[in-house]
Amino acid sequence: MAVGGGIVPGSGGKRYEARVTPFVVIACVVAATGGLIFGYDIGISGGVTSMDEFLLKFFPAVYAKEKNTTGHDSQYCKFENHLLTLFTSSLYLAALIASFFASATTRKFGRKISMTVGGVIFLIGAVLNGAAMNVSMLIIGRILLGVGIGYANQSVPVYLSEMAPPKLRGALNIGFQMAITIGILAASLVNYGTSKMRENGWRISLALAAVPALIMTIGVVFLPDTPNSLIERGQKENARAMLEKIRGTSEVDEEFADLVEASEVSRQVEQPLKTILERKYRPQLVITSLIPFFQQFTGINVIMFYAPVLFKTLGFGDDASLMSAVVTGMVNVLATFVSIFTVDKFGRRVLFLEGGIQMIICQIGVGALVASVFGVSGTGSFSKGTGNLALALICVYVAAFAWSWGPLGWLVPSEIHPLETRSAGQSINVSVNMFFTFIIGQLFLSMLCHLKFGLFFFFGGWVVTMTAFVYFFVPETKNVPIEEMNRVWKSHWFWGKYIPDDAVGLAHHNTTNNA
Ligand code: BGC
Repeated sequence: MAVGGGIVPGSGGKRYEARVTPFVVIACVVAATGGLIFGYDIGISGGVTSMDEFLLKFFPAVYAKEKNTTGHDSQYCKFENHLLTLFTSSLYLAALIASFFASATTRKFGRKISMTVGGVIFLIGAVLNGAAMNVSMLIIGRILLGVGIGYANQSVPVYLSEMAPPKLRGALNIGFQMAITIGILAASLVNYGTSKMRENGWRISLALAAVPALIMTIGVVFLPDTPNSLIERGQKENARAMLEKIRGTSEVDEEFADLVEASEVSRQVEQPLKTILERKYRPQLVITSLIPFFQQFTGINVIMFYAPVLFKTLGFGDDASLMSAVVTGMVNVLATFVSIFTVDKFGRRVLFLEGGIQMIICQIGVGALVASVFGVSGTGSFSKGTGNLALALICVYVAAFAWSWGPLGWLVPSEIHPLETRSAGQSINVSVNMFFTFIIGQLFLSMLCHLKFGLFFFFGGWVVTMTAFVYFFVPETKNVPIEEMNRVWKSHWFWGKYIPDDAVGLAHHNTTNNA
């Protein structure tokens, strides 16, 4: 043991006793449904904003412009319109702001309360949207949905990471991403159905958001709070009992002592958002801020928000476009399974790096294809063969995202923080994610119009950058107990120098250091 309670990095992590109890699995499945409400919203608005009845009622000017496309002959610019994209992306701004309030709630009242708040506010938003008689109802509803999502996305990943035994943390946490992808797919199927209705199709699409919100809100009532959160709120005995219950053994002394000690450190922290700026949290701060930024700059939401529009731009018919959105939605769900089964075995880095390379290849492929058919002028159309090839490449790209940056974008930031900065870290993650989701949502149609086929190379360039970043700066975190993460940073070639020696001593609480 090094002087000062420090330990030599890499001197071997510990293994807590833990069985995978049905109780913990069910708790995690219920919590993950929080991802459903997020996914449903990502998937629903693109379809709704292409419905004539909806446009006529709320955005008549847009409708007129779309029916009477004068000025722009270029395929690339057919759908450029800021008002409409604002409808899609405003929700993400609301979520951004809400995630900071959620951080305080999550810390003071527990993860469970935050999830409940998220579910209920989202529910009200869904009802307002479904019943919307004017633009204000639509927008207020949209904002409430965003607030709900801010709360859910802040608390659910933290909840999952804390409940899970270390060796299954990745898989259980990815339940959140799984729920997101199922939500997106459900939304594209609903849109496919309601677009065929003569009246009120949009209303049904928007109102059905209440279904995942109900599942989540009711499910959460039956969830226990995490031991970490109970300790954080001074309920040590309950926390110990809960830990025994979720680990399925009474041999939890070591893990419990670590949780208590982490909580004591955390209690001394008055302002987590200020604390996280301290030098010793630099690796977490940088990674927590960059991962969500990079996740959005993979360009995934170009596909998730605008698949129907994108496929129309590429010359697919109306029905084929909506169908293609369903196809990419299915690939997204199925490929997420790959990450669930591999993330704790092969680790986060392998998935990040492989997924990145696969995305780059597809982006270059699609860009080249679009360039060869539409060129710079943007006139022309895909033959059936090239259209299908583009669709296939897009599916391979979506698959790569779905087993790399999709799930890992939520998993990694939720598991790299010590307790004292975990909530704050997660709200930075959520707000950066929401901010850039907003930016992409807002700018994509203009970017397509101005960058043309270069758009695909633009995102490809970002994926090259983020893949290199992961290679050099993101250490492997699989199987590392969440309260022992500092050991990983301490032994990293670059981040090691930011971690004071005593920060890794936490793992060795049985060292006599009660001065
Ligand atoms: C991202 C979303 C994206 C979704 C696609 C999530 O991890 O945060 O922005 O739409 O994955 O499955």
